[in-house]
Amino acid sequence: MKSTTCRLDRFVSQNSLFKAADARLLIAQKRIVVDGQPAHSIQQKITQFSHVLLDGQCLQDKQALYLILNKPKGVVSATKDLQHITVLDLLEHPQKHQLHIVGRLDLNTTGLLLLSNDGAWSRKISLPESKLTKTYEVRLAQPVTAEYVEVFRQGIYFAYEDITTQPACLEILSTYNARLTLTEGKYHQVKRMFGFFQNEVLALHRASVGPLRLEGLQLGQSRSLTEEELTAIESECCR
Ligand code: URA
Repeated sequence: MKSTTCRLDRFVSQNSLFKAADARLLIAQKRIVVDGQPAHSIQQKITQFSHVLLDGQCLQDKQALYLILNKPKGVVSATKDLQHITVLDLLEHPQKHQLHIVGRLDLNTTGLLLLSNDGAWSRKISLPESKLTKTYEVRLAQPVTAEYVEVFRQGIYFAYEDITTQPACLEILSTYNARLTLTEGKYHQVKRMFGFFQNEVLALHRASVGPLRLEGLQLGQSRSLTEEELTAIESECCR
């Protein structure tokens, strides 16, 4: 999604009958209010989520949305699909058609999925440099052994992308169950890492992304992220 930040004078010309050149006078007359405060400069940045009033009339009022969903198996991480139920079909949010998905999960993977209408936020969360941790609970067809821990820590070469995976932390929970923490999200990464040992992933669940947890959200349920969660994930991204 393109960033939709622009200068106040340009915003006024694009969203009212006034010209950009009129903005200075409108500001001096305190006729423009941005996010509850009188506008102060023609260069003031207006984002797609700024609330803007001109002479008391609303020029823009779009709410930023940040949702967390516990994705069930068999639901596709897409906004439209002819074959499967999509994650959007699970939501009851009135503005759900504005949303895009931040970091997909495979059809049969369950767990934590983020959705937003804020493209700049989604890009920040998804950037490889953000190094946000993603934790997966994995059930395997074959026993998982201590050898995996060292191989995953050192990284696995993916010929298709010509990359070696970043050091990953594997905790063995039981013979067939493990918890894997990654700081990146390559295509089918978890399945391909266990594929290195010819060990098929039978069930995969994303339990966390950075500081975010599902905490009480049942499969198929969603909610808005809290202010505390938004602050926490932003600060982890910018470490
Ligand atoms: N890795 C996978 O292989 N699948 C997912 O859905 C997520 C990570």
